Amino acid sequence: MRPSRSLPGNDPVTPPMFGGWLRHLRPRSRENVLDRTKALAGAFQLIGWQNSLRAVRYAVQRTWLDRRLERPPRAPSRVPGRLTAAEQVTGGARFTFAPTGGSSSGDSAADLTLEVRCLAAGGVFVGWDGAGPTPSYALAGFEAGHAPAPAGDTTLAREGDDWTVGTGALSVTVHPSGGLTFRSGGDGHAPPLRHDLPPRWDGVSWTHRSTLDSDAAVLGLGGRSAPLDRRGGTYRLWNSDPGGTYALGDDPLSLSIPAYLVVADAGTHVAFHDTSFDGTVEVGEQVVTRVTDGPLRYYVFPGTPARALDAYTALTGRPALPPRWALGYHQSRWGYGSESAVRRIVGQFAERDLPLSVIWLDIDHLVDNRPFNVDPRRYPDLATLTSDLAERGIHLVAIADPGVAMDRRDPVFAGGLAADVFCRDERGGLATGVVWPGTTVFPDFTASRTREWWSRLYQTYVSAGIAGFWHDMNEPSSFAAWGDGTLPLSTRHDLDGRGGDHREAHNVYALLLNHAGFDGVRRLRPDRRPYLLSRSGFAGLQRYAGTWSGDIGTAWEGLRISLSFTLGLGCSGMPYSGPDIGGFDAHPSAELYVRWFQLASYLPFFRVHCAASLPHREPWAFGPEVLGQVRPALTERYTLLPYWYTLAWIAHRTGTPYARPMFWADPADAALRWEDDQFLLGDALLVAPVLAEGVRERTVRLPAGRWYDRRTGTAHDGPGHVTVPAPLDSTPVLVRAGAVLPVERAGSIVLEVYPPGDDEGPGGVLFTDAGDGFAEPVEERFTIGRGDDGGLEVRYSGPAGSLPYDVDWRVPRDRG
Ligand code: GLC
Repeated sequence: MRPSRSLPGNDPVTPPMFGGWLRHLRPRSRENVLDRTKALAGAFQLIGWQNSLRAVRYAVQRTWLDRRLERPPRAPSRVPGRLTAAEQVTGGARFTFAPTGGSSSGDSAADLTLEVRCLAAGGVFVGWDGAGPTPSYALAGFEAGHAPAPAGDTTLAREGDDWTVGTGALSVTVHPSGGLTFRSGGDGHAPPLRHDLPPRWDGVSWTHRSTLDSDAAVLGLGGRSAPLDRRGGTYRLWNSDPGGTYALGDDPLSLSIPAYLVVADAGTHVAFHDTSFDGTVEVGEQVVTRVTDGPLRYYVFPGTPARALDAYTALTGRPALPPRWALGYHQSRWGYGSESAVRRIVGQFAERDLPLSVIWLDIDHLVDNRPFNVDPRRYPDLATLTSDLAERGIHLVAIADPGVAMDRRDPVFAGGLAADVFCRDERGGLATGVVWPGTTVFPDFTASRTREWWSRLYQTYVSAGIAGFWHDMNEPSSFAAWGDGTLPLSTRHDLDGRGGDHREAHNVYALLLNHAGFDGVRRLRPDRRPYLLSRSGFAGLQRYAGTWSGDIGTAWEGLRISLSFTLGLGCSGMPYSGPDIGGFDAHPSAELYVRWFQLASYLPFFRVHCAASLPHREPWAFGPEVLGQVRPALTERYTLLPYWYTLAWIAHRTGTPYARPMFWADPADAALRWEDDQFLLGDALLVAPVLAEGVRERTVRLPAGRWYDRRTGTAHDGPGHVTVPAPLDSTPVLVRAGAVLPVERAGSIVLEVYPPGDDEGPGGVLFTDAGDGFAEPVEERFTIGRGDDGGLEVRYSGPAGSLPYDVDWRVPRDRG
């Protein structure tokens, strides 16, 4: 049964009363006025008094510009009337509906058309009112402008007043009212998966409704500060910087993705509304999607969660494969401040024999926070620093925000001005905002010449051996004391020659910045994979970058949000993400730090990061006892690296996230649908992190089958609940019976084997390669079977002929 929503403090999600920094004054039930005022003061302290004054000026300017924004005269409202024609087209059919209602202005309304096209890669496209799949920045290879390939075997059949378009795998029945019913299977008779009501254009926006079964859970929509099941909330599709911190229910955040996964008894599917304009998705009895301006076009991908995400990422792009080092531990803070400080930190990791893969350089490595202007006083020799670190297997990642200081002495500004790459206002002047460097301009990434120009800026960093890039403040964010903290809506954009304004370009701004970054770094270092992390983006960001929580608030609630945030992104096609361990805006208690560290050690992106004013947070910063508690999580992360890397390859090939909600084990088992405080890592592991203070044991819901406690080997049989110990130095992890888990011990791969229960279990798979580059991996598969003597053995399929790894039976074979 559907539980009441389970994150603490779980008020219904409402759009913020104030945007910009004043949103910190938003009333919250558990906060008093003093707390709210403190939050606002904290926000202003974060950006400094000069930028605070600029933020006030900017808010005035932006409000004025947005008020003057010319909107086209309100178009007549429309809903589909009588179905008048149906004709087969390649991959599907086109339908025509007579107009109804007309407009109050007396204009004669035109016919409404509907196009339904089945796709070769699975799924179906639906476009109303002439909307086709292109142009769209969400589509992989959008530059070529190709529409997704149509399915070859589509049929169109009439039954009474209904028409059914189908392939062998799915069908869409078009009702004479303009309603649509989606089914798995091609003949139009399987139980319905989804029912869409006729859409409505009210002259400004489309409203689209899809009914939901009462047993359905809805996940995804990008990075959200909301419970894993999005039902009961309204989510805005408008990338927004939350202004230094956020808490449960703050919406929107930096990365809106108009794609969601529905899991119900009737089956699962992914739906994707391909529009970059502002909108909302209200998830209640129905999913009500409102998109301002348009277009109304969307896709439905039926199938298991894995199959639906496979089809979605075939359309919008496969997740970029991170280099292997990016799956290790990342140490960051805003404010390491200098090369010698970085060396000192690295030395302290070595002294304590702690593994470390990456150090991050925040804006304090720059002159006056200006992108691509490395401060030569504090970082006099980046190349030597990176090569010294490389000897210890440590990589450096540097931040690159899009806001360029508006100062002719800044070479990036001067070069950009000469190349005419910056966004302009509606009168042709430079569009300006306020970011860390002060008054800034913003490259128009919707122009190919801007992307080309930007892609060359990475040159100096790449030659100095910087291994990856961090794209932040790219909603794009501009400090605004109130209102929307981004560019004025009238800001002009190229939109690859089509021309338009910020209403259409805003949500794809970061996507296209990452496109430029990815291409640039790839070209500059063709033999290595670009490693990018981006705060903002859109559907398709996964093909260039991973993401992280952004400035998540330091609180136990923040820890819980971290998990639903990452799992929700995975269901929106973004498998690589993780939180700022400990939260961004305040210093966590030792216990909160430990539990956050432990959770993140089982999420794809494993990084400690915090704001500049806060005390240090390296693993030893809380003293030896806490170091002893987090060390096992660090060690386990590196032990499991072969498994992590295999999951990365699987995500890259199929879009299946590394970290998966519990229903992945059995989407038909409704009991698993709302389990949001435990998750599956790949096919083998069930992770049950501690997410609340003072907890030293917890219950775990087991899907059907046998599960072994990874620490003790104790067997538990599901379905059902077990209570497991969770002392401060450990995270409960269970392993599915019949799993073969590839791990690394003393530099060699070893297979940990867990005897099967009643069924065979998942066996195992291992992908290996050089850890970087573009060569195909070696793929090896393992199953557990009975040998001639009747005993259990591991069977191998792969290029080696016979099993090339040591096997460690973690549980005696005779117990299987
Ligand atoms: C933003 C980022 C944060 C970073 C800071 C300074 O707030 O989200 O991670 O440290 O900017 O660059």
